[in-house]
Amino acid sequence: MKNRKLVMIPGPTPVVRTIQDQMGRDTVAFGDQQFVKDFKGVLTDLKKLWGTTGEVFVVAGTGTMAMEMAISNTLKDGDNLLVISHGYFGDRFVELTTRKGINVDVLRSEWGKIIPIAEIEAKLRDKSYQALTVTHVDTSTAAIAPIAEIGKMMEKFPDTIYIVDGVAATAGEREYVDEYNIDILFTASQKAFGVAPGLAILWASEKAMNRRAELGTIPEYYVDFDKWLPIMHDTSKYYATPAVNMIWALQESIRIIKEEGLENRYERHIKNANAMRDAIEAMGFKILADESNRASTLSCVLYPEGVNDLNFRTILAEEGAQVAGGLAAYAGKMFRIGHMGNIDTLDMIGAISAIERTLYRMGIDVLGKGVAALQRGLFL
Ligand SMILES: Cc1ncc(COP(=O)(O)O)c(C=O)c1O
Repeated sequence: MKNRKLVMIPGPTPVVRTIQDQMGRDTVAFGDQQFVKDFKGVLTDLKKLWGTTGEVFVVAGTGTMAMEMAISNTLKDGDNLLVISHGYFGDRFVELTTRKGINVDVLRSEWGKIIPIAEIEAKLRDKSYQALTVTHVDTSTAAIAPIAEIGKMMEKFPDTIYIVDGVAATAGEREYVDEYNIDILFTASQKAFGVAPGLAILWASEKAMNRRAELGTIPEYYVDFDKWLPIMHDTSKYYATPAVNMIWALQESIRIIKEEGLENRYERHIKNANAMRDAIEAMGFKILADESNRASTLSCVLYPEGVNDLNFRTILAEEGAQVAGGLAAYAGKMFRIGHMGNIDTLDMIGAISAIERTLYRMGIDVLGKGVAALQRGLFL
């Protein structure tokens, strides 16, 4: 008999039954009174939970589209952008914005490390930048950026829009938009919200909205704040078809988050991440990110000598768990495992025990070591 597939890649993450049920409902007209109310409720909750008096947008699309939405509404051809890149997804901003004729400077860290805030501040003093981008958790390295502290420093640069990519963080790592002085925060549904892929979520401060107004007509059509704002203020209006069932799925995810409590959710992520890393290290692996900047949402795990990536991930999938490979220079050298969203103890035990069985089949006997460390960590 084949094992079930436990999706432990860093997104999409496992989708719990009650969220799946929302996606399986009969689709209704987007003007349906109950849907209009549900959509409005989702937007109200998102603003409240992430602590902003600004705007929120929920639009069909992926995280990359949200990156484009953030950039298109705040920067124009010829503007200066400072990108803080801690890996592959930080670098994606460079590619995206260079195409738009934006002048991009990059502060790039070694993978697994982060750029010190003092360095960011020095760069901002050097030259006038219209925006700064920071990837909260870069999914290629599992390094986390100190977005609250960066936000504090950004108070000294009131003309610079502070954009945070929360795709691999939001709903798993602490993010309070106004308190952290963030101008744009965005994410996608398939990561720590535990919804299937398909929705982009974006919060925008008054400062970001003012910048949008200054830009006048922008070349982009689908991702234009001005086009979506009337719908976000009155969900009975139409601009482009809302992803009805996905919005219901997000509503259920938010219900789960409220039931757990956002702060409890963040603490759970920290605890789970520590226990998962204890387990991973107990099996003989090393973690890529420096201890001082490890994310709670996923881990990037370096293989010990002699473990072949493709064999490992193929056997692991047979044993029931899917993990992702390393990106760029780390392809073949590590795997990436998610521990975010609505995963529970059994999911984690399932994943760690599947890794133990995989290693056993590859001639490395660490049976029981990972699970023991995990369980101990969960009891701490
Ligand atoms: C940090 C980060 N930013 C952006 C993206 C792009 O999101 P998507 O694949 O949904 O377009 C990802 C995807 O994994 C990500 O991890």
